[in-house]
Amino acid sequence: MTGRVCAGPLEALAGDRLNPIADGRAVAVRRGRAVLAYANVCPHTGSPVAGGLVRDGVAVCPQHFWRFEATTGRCIGPSGGLHPLPVTVVDGQVWVELDDPAPPVGWRQRLLARARDYDRASDYAVRMAGPDRQPPHPNGAGHQHLPTAAPPPPTAVASTESG
Ligand code: FES
Repeated sequence: MTGRVCAGPLEALAGDRLNPIADGRAVAVRRGRAVLAYANVCPHTGSPVAGGLVRDGVAVCPQHFWRFEATTGRCIGPSGGLHPLPVTVVDGQVWVELDDPAPPVGWRQRLLARARDYDRASDYAVRMAGPDRQPPHPNGAGHQHLPTAAPPPPTAVASTESG
């Protein structure tokens, strides 16, 4: 999704946080009747900054708390900053220009999405329908690697040395 995207009404944006907009591709910061938009990517690790708090003109990344000037996106401390996006307000609706064709998805976001989509009941049913019909081992290591019977007792070895 690139191009101009409607992010909803200005009044719906909280003034004290980095509001996710455009399917999480960007964040918006409301400053009174004005609004600023940035790509939802932290320059630290590439994780999303959505949900970070904004206080006294400073936006904070919720991951490791890097701080940014809310009006410029410039990082306070390390160099770099949030990537600004053109944004306009037309008839109370916020419009943002997205310029990145690839969705900015970090590892944390990917793992959370995978965990949300995981269906334990289906997975268990699939495993139970398998050829050995044994439940999976609770530690997830796979029961087929565990010993199924006690090892045979040690056998006496005849000594070849005469003594
Ligand atoms: S990912 Fe934003 S501070 Fe680390």
